[in-house]
Amino acid sequence: MLIDTYGRVATDLRVSLTDRCNLRCTYCMPEEGLQWLAKPDLLTDDEIVRLIDIAVTSLGIKEVRFTGGEPLLRPGLVGIVERVAALHPRPQMSLTTNGIGLGRTATALKAAGLDRVNVSLDTLRPATFKTLTRRDRHKDVIEGLQAARDAGLTPVKVNTVLMPGLNEDEAPDLLAWAVEHDYELRFIEQMPLDAQHGWKREGMVTAGDILASLRTRFDLTPEGTDERGSAPAERWIVDGGPHRVGVIASVTRPFCSACDRTRLTADGQIRTCLFAQEETDLRAALRSDAPDEEIARIWRLAMWGKKAGAGLDDPSFVQPDRPMSAIGG
Ligand code: 5AD
Ligand code: SF4
Repeated sequence: MLIDTYGRVATDLRVSLTDRCNLRCTYCMPEEGLQWLAKPDLLTDDEIVRLIDIAVTSLGIKEVRFTGGEPLLRPGLVGIVERVAALHPRPQMSLTTNGIGLGRTATALKAAGLDRVNVSLDTLRPATFKTLTRRDRHKDVIEGLQAARDAGLTPVKVNTVLMPGLNEDEAPDLLAWAVEHDYELRFIEQMPLDAQHGWKREGMVTAGDILASLRTRFDLTPEGTDERGSAPAERWIVDGGPHRVGVIASVTRPFCSACDRTRLTADGQIRTCLFAQEETDLRAALRSDAPDEEIARIWRLAMWGKKAGAGLDDPSFVQPDRPMSAIGG
């Protein structure tokens, strides 16, 4: 089991499969992209599957989420999903994606054993999408979402970040659209994780702003605090149900005390938190033929040292060196 000194137990493993992406969201990456990880530094498909195997058999991991950058850019993805689906015990498996490649991969991913997808979409306006992501791919995301739903990768969740002056007025439109298409919408407060270090607390769209905006058009009833558990999204029932909307107040109401996550970067580093300053290298152990038990021991020790919280409110807070795209969402 992966327990820390605060008694939290990590059961949810986020695996970043690549730091590359085919979009350039302004809250994530600069226009020119980033210095990508070198191929020899990336874990191979075999190394990834071995680590996930150790995580589910020896460390109590129950859920695996593949992230990026953009995980659909990883050539071996379908094969990795198939091999993880054959592990005992079989973990729940989901994928956080920008949706662009889902049109051609959703059916194969479902057949390989993927359970669900989370698709990032911040706007219903193609022109705003182009400004926000610096790519003209809105239509591909909409088609990807439909493909995911048709393939049964459900419930399909949509992650939205609202940015001042760009899409902050779109919350009610996005919710009406999500209800109509049976997607579960979740708003995520913008976090200081962009590679350009351009995040400012002043002016950020808060969970409070989002709820006030939604309530101009919808009746929202809290789902009840019991149900939040370790899930970061607080959920509201929309107009009496059955649809729900989530708000992830990562900045204004952090959920660190209930965190159940452990993260693996594409180059084989364990991170205890998105905002952690330290990483623990598993790749060196993997490549020096360490036995499973040794790798499990290093992983347990890394998680034991997990900090109480991200410390966004602490004046001494410093953004991690690695941007979001290289950590995995
Ligand atoms: N703040 C909040 N969410 C972010 N994401 C990427 N960068 C940030 C940020 N700085 C979102 C993406 C995706 C999820 C993995 O994280 O939009 O939905
Ligand atoms: Fe790509 Fe996601 Fe970053 Fe946008 S937020 S550039 S989709 S990794």
